[in-house]
Amino acid sequence: MIVTIDGPAGAGKSTVAKALADRLGFDYLDTGAMYRAVALAGLRRGIDWTRPEPLAELARRLRLQWVANRILVDGEDVTEAIRTSEVTAATRYAADHPQVRAHLVALQRAAASGRNVVAEGRDQGTVVFPDAQCKIFLTASPAERARRRVRDLEAQGERAAFDKVLAAIQRRDHDDSIRPVGPLAKAPDAIEVPTDGLSVEEIVDRLVSMVAARR
Ligand code: DC
Repeated sequence: MIVTIDGPAGAGKSTVAKALADRLGFDYLDTGAMYRAVALAGLRRGIDWTRPEPLAELARRLRLQWVANRILVDGEDVTEAIRTSEVTAATRYAADHPQVRAHLVALQRAAASGRNVVAEGRDQGTVVFPDAQCKIFLTASPAERARRRVRDLEAQGERAAFDKVLAAIQRRDHDDSIRPVGPLAKAPDAIEVPTDGLSVEEIVDRLVSMVAARR
């Protein structure tokens, strides 16, 4: 069974998707981490983002692996390294790139093939798994999402000003929604779950019931 969780940046998708996968005994597929991993590799190699071909080639050559919910690139654990603001800002070059997307979408489908998976991203219910049995679209107001992001960044030791984080979230919402390939969009058959004011446990409880109803 495939459960997709899509939604804007900072809506709590990762925390919720991970907890939901744990509760269900499913694998968790963090597709944002894949776009981030390509961006990190590009930054490290000093890639010219304005030239499409080297980035496509780089993405195709990277060996992306999941080991116990940690992401490895060419054998190196980059789970923390892909979460910095620098990588977050560069990720749009990977996410906006049609060939990079096509490659990562193929990897995502292969990773889920024949498995029970909670797949999290922007295009999971629309593009990657249009036939998923349960599709969730997780939302929260921009201010709530900015508050959560500030907390996350501070937990990683990065100092963050609320206004700057809010502006960055609004910019990413814009970038995510106008992307010509794989834009952030709610699939017509996805259930929208607004999360303002709800705890992670409350959200996960709701999702577990939704999945159970569709199994
Ligand atoms: O969920 P995240 O913040 O880790 O995602 C990082 C970026 O990758 C985000 O700006 C949008 C992009 N992304 C995407 O385009 N498609 C996905 N399936 C997942 C993420």
